[in-house]
Amino acid sequence: MPKVAPIDQRKADHIKINLEKDVRSALTTGLEKILFTHEALPELDLERIDTSLSLFGKPLAAPILISSMTGGTSEAEIINLRLAEAAQEIGIAMGVGSQRAALEHPEQAKTFQVRRVAPDILLFANLGAVQLNYGYGVDECRKAVDMIGANALILHFNPLQEAVQDAGDTNFAGLREKIEEICKRLEVPVIAKEVGWGISERTARIFADCGVSAIDVAGAGGTSWSQVEMHRAPDEFTRQLAATFVGWGIPTAESILNVKKAAPAMTIFASGGLKDGLDIAKCIALGAALGGMAGQFLKAAAASTENVVETMNLTKKQLEVTMFAAGAGDLDSLRNVKLQGRSKLDAEI
Ligand SMILES: Cc1cc2nc3c(=O)[nH]c(=O)nc-3n(C[C@H](O)[C@H](O)[C@H](O)COP(=O)(O)O)c2cc1C
Repeated sequence: MPKVAPIDQRKADHIKINLEKDVRSALTTGLEKILFTHEALPELDLERIDTSLSLFGKPLAAPILISSMTGGTSEAEIINLRLAEAAQEIGIAMGVGSQRAALEHPEQAKTFQVRRVAPDILLFANLGAVQLNYGYGVDECRKAVDMIGANALILHFNPLQEAVQDAGDTNFAGLREKIEEICKRLEVPVIAKEVGWGISERTARIFADCGVSAIDVAGAGGTSWSQVEMHRAPDEFTRQLAATFVGWGIPTAESILNVKKAAPAMTIFASGGLKDGLDIAKCIALGAALGGMAGQFLKAAAASTENVVETMNLTKKQLEVTMFAAGAGDLDSLRNVKLQGRSKLDAEI
């Protein structure tokens, strides 16, 4: 038996654990600390609330992102296709999970390929940034993008997840120059993304200096990957190590403000523990361009495409009603509304 689980086994474990176990962080997103001011006379028609935007040259009906999740197994393929079909129907953006499995086993590529059901969506490829220290370079990044016809590449940064798992890839030293090179040489935008522990000001500055086009903060308050690894741990030592970090990370709200402070012009994707369209609205009011959800969409996709469509429609409607009752007719206006609790949050970072 190999000591390290093969990638496809790991992917199957991730889906099963996320669906069946409590893997929530002990922290909250921080979004509960801010409130919109209710406007009894918004001077708006709900039917005309405009949630549309354009990003990386693609039109989106709403600033909603299906965060990167899966691929590599037949179950993952079904989930990706359901998510993509729904994203195409509604007009929102989607990321696939890490494509390393398919780069190493090309027969798995089809489990990530969703263009046949989603020809028009803004689609993000995904690789672990640490792989740049384990033999990957611009060629592998290009292959990941080409494999799925992606519009941009997400490089995810998961040092804590790698550190608390059995035989993870833990050499994160000297990555800065390699990311800079990928940003310079790749033909599509590069997005730097955490996986659920957020972004500090220092990290945001480094990413900005490297030339990334956007940062997905993936802050604390939702899925905790140390908890996922705790449930997969092969022995008590690894289990206890992973369990230590249930309360680790920078909450999502704070992470957004960190990026704004370090790199005011940076495009920000907000994710990590967002539960509905109201949370997405709060993130946009704090300065994000998109709000992403992973765990929520995974649960819907495990049921059916219709379930995903319903979840997306509800999320979009929650966003529209929030904008309506807060007096914001479009996303630019939403970015300018006054939030109660905002100055306290600013003072905390
Ligand atoms: C089943 C599952 C698999 C994931 N796999 C990846 C991945 O391959 N690459 C990545 O960047 N993030 C991955 N993530 C992390 C999510 O994109 C997201 O950053 C994180 O789960 C926090 O969002 P949430 O609180 O809405 O779940 C995964 C999440 C889930 C639930």
